[in-house]
Amino acid sequence: MSAKNLGSTHDWGEGLRSAKWFGADGKTGFMHRSWMRSEGLPDDTFRGRPVIGIANSWSELTSCNIHLRVLAEHVKRGIWQAGGVPFEFPTTSAGEPLVRPTAMLLRNLMAMDLEETLRANPLDGVVLLAGCDKTTPAYLMGAASVDIPSLLITGGPMLNGKYRGGDIGSGTSVWRFTEAYRAGQIDEAAVTEAEGCMARSQGHCMTMGTASTMACVSEFMGMQLPGTAALPANDSRRSTAAHLAGRRIVEMVEEDLRPSKILTREAFENGVRANAALGGSTNAVIHLLALARRVGVELTLDDFDTLVRDVPVIADLMPSGRFLMEDFEYAGGTAGFAETLGDLLHRDTLTVSGKTFGENYAGAEVYNPEVIRPLDNPVKAPGSGIAVVRGNLAPRGAVVKQSAASEELLTHTGRALVWDTLDAYLADADDPELEVTADDILVVRNVGPRGYPGMPEVGNLPLPRKLLEAGVTDMVRISDARMSGTSYGTVVLHVAPEAAAGGPLALVRTGDTITLDVPSRSLHLHVDDAELAARKTGWVAPQVPGSERGWTRLYIEHVTQADEGLDLDFLQGSSGAAVGPQAF
Ligand code: FES
Ligand code: MG
Repeated sequence: MSAKNLGSTHDWGEGLRSAKWFGADGKTGFMHRSWMRSEGLPDDTFRGRPVIGIANSWSELTSCNIHLRVLAEHVKRGIWQAGGVPFEFPTTSAGEPLVRPTAMLLRNLMAMDLEETLRANPLDGVVLLAGCDKTTPAYLMGAASVDIPSLLITGGPMLNGKYRGGDIGSGTSVWRFTEAYRAGQIDEAAVTEAEGCMARSQGHCMTMGTASTMACVSEFMGMQLPGTAALPANDSRRSTAAHLAGRRIVEMVEEDLRPSKILTREAFENGVRANAALGGSTNAVIHLLALARRVGVELTLDDFDTLVRDVPVIADLMPSGRFLMEDFEYAGGTAGFAETLGDLLHRDTLTVSGKTFGENYAGAEVYNPEVIRPLDNPVKAPGSGIAVVRGNLAPRGAVVKQSAASEELLTHTGRALVWDTLDAYLADADDPELEVTADDILVVRNVGPRGYPGMPEVGNLPLPRKLLEAGVTDMVRISDARMSGTSYGTVVLHVAPEAAAGGPLALVRTGDTITLDVPSRSLHLHVDDAELAARKTGWVAPQVPGSERGWTRLYIEHVTQADEGLDLDFLQGSSGAAVGPQAF
């Protein structure tokens, strides 16, 4: 450091990013240090110690992340103990339970918020506290685009839901309860009671929904400490993991272990394949495609199909199976699961622990082979994960979660019944006069990235009431929407390009015939090209309410389609951690 520096006898941490602030010459360094001293910090706090941000997606509007303030305190203990200096900060949060039209609309905003906050501040590393579905990918995306040492801790799943002697799962059981209520099988009191019994502890959804999926997948991609993703939110070992994460991030700064060294093509392959073995959420497709584009890794929609054909589902978890995350943890958790997969995953990828994937899990055991199955007795055979279908209805692809679908509907030809809006469908779904049979294919459009906007989780359309009452439990449904990771059914999702962007989904009409053939990966509309071209004439993009200004306008103008991950086009890539010019 310069001899002009006040207190120049000190080691300001040559090489630390934060030294550009706290070790700066003259009044600049004075200003940076002085104001921060108002937080009660001793003068040696800023001399050579790694400064660690704790990004917190805590919000009382995001119930799944409500305990992250407390978890942050454990992270701080670990950081101080290792000689670092922690600063916790809030960002935009995005909770599934409340945000309309969908928390997905805020994922990129949250990522951008984190990215800009990290870059603008004297941070040498960051611990990311996330949990609810979108918060985890948002933080990974933002951190990846800055590329300072980053360690994720997810909040952990809720304890199992317990209702009248049985287990009930977040989301998955909501669909079952509400369908049973619509079919007149249970009364309102039962539904009210179930509401309280399902979400009975802190944490994110305890099914293998998007939150558990992204937590586990990010661990297997190397961004979380090994063996931690499935620890229940209220388990004291999660607090310990947070403490250890605090210690570890300080070492990561010393080792310069950045996301770009961890998030390699092999790490993404591990994520894609682990997702298949978990029976994980279709939302992982969108999030990993977006994250890959942040770090410049080539990952395509088709990878989610072709990379997983030899991977069985071995986690018997709702919605694809029977158990919940608490059971998964006690059965051996992510460590037992990873070790079971053996060479189906790359063992030599680097992780935040500083060790390889293989070293992290060597010797881990499974204690309940009902929950984490051996490879030779899987829940679903290899090749029953996500399938990518294409055809004249989805030229850039669509996805089907085979493990959550009905086997007999995976090959199906039927008459299309088409609705232009979700509301129009929902209004008709309860109409006893609706002309519909179980063989029809329900099509709802304009629920994609631009159309809704944010591509809500409505693809698992509730079945028409008259069919529910007749005992029908599944039908083929097609849309440009997503579906919740906790839901199930023979549902064709993420149709790209979406209808609102002029994709052929905009052109299908009630009465057309559609063939879904998952084994041959095709989705075909039996209407010839000339007729489709004629229908396209005169098509106009639907007006999206609220899109005249603000975030929604920016979003609609720049959001990419489902096969590219719904990032904003200008957020793809990285700007690194360059330190901006000083203000004084
Ligand atoms: Fe937040 Fe499921 S609603 S994790
Ligand atoms: Mg969800």
